Amino acid sequence: MRTKHFVRGGLVGAWITAVVAMTWAPRGGQPAAAVAALRDTVRDSLLVSDSIYQGWKWWHVYCYRCHGEDAMHPILPTAPDLRWAVSPTGANFPRDSFFNTAWNGRPPKGMPAWNVLLDSGAIQEVYLYVKARSDGWLKPGRPHRLSDQQQKTKSP
Ligand code: HEC
Repeated sequence: MRTKHFVRGGLVGAWITAVVAMTWAPRGGQPAAAVAALRDTVRDSLLVSDSIYQGWKWWHVYCYRCHGEDAMHPILPTAPDLRWAVSPTGANFPRDSFFNTAWNGRPPKGMPAWNVLLDSGAIQEVYLYVKARSDGWLKPGRPHRLSDQQQKTKSP
């Protein structure tokens, strides 16, 4: 008796699943257009310029271990959240000042000088990355460039 109920329940379940699948299945011709429309209207918030992409890389080699992954939630308690530091409510660093701090550091306060490991272009790229994170349009996570996507479409 219990087995019978179980079997019938299973069949009903399968039937419902099939109906739902049929109802949701896209009708002929439309899916490609619908997907394209979606792609055009949904903003790709991880798509970045080459400079910001490089900045993201430098960040996750040199800066994240104190200032936090994805430029948030600093790991070293004395290291500020740099999203806030470059925002209008924070220190609102113009690029030079961010640049100077990163270049010369504040060694007595635990912020290393990066001029030994990074050149000025790299520090500017880091700034662009942090600014994009601070402005909020760049979401946490690994960003990508347009050129990465083009390569992906080309490969078989
Ligand atoms: C070893 C830990 C450590 C690392 C790694 C580190 N920082 Fe810092 N950073 C700090 C600390 C601590 C402060 C706060 C210094 C102070 O109290 O004035 C700071 C402050 C700063 C400030 C000034 C923020 C403000 O509001 O005054 C900037 C800009 C900055 N760091 C950029 C960077 C960049 C860019 C990198 C990577 C290239 C980096 N930091 C890597 C520890 C670190």
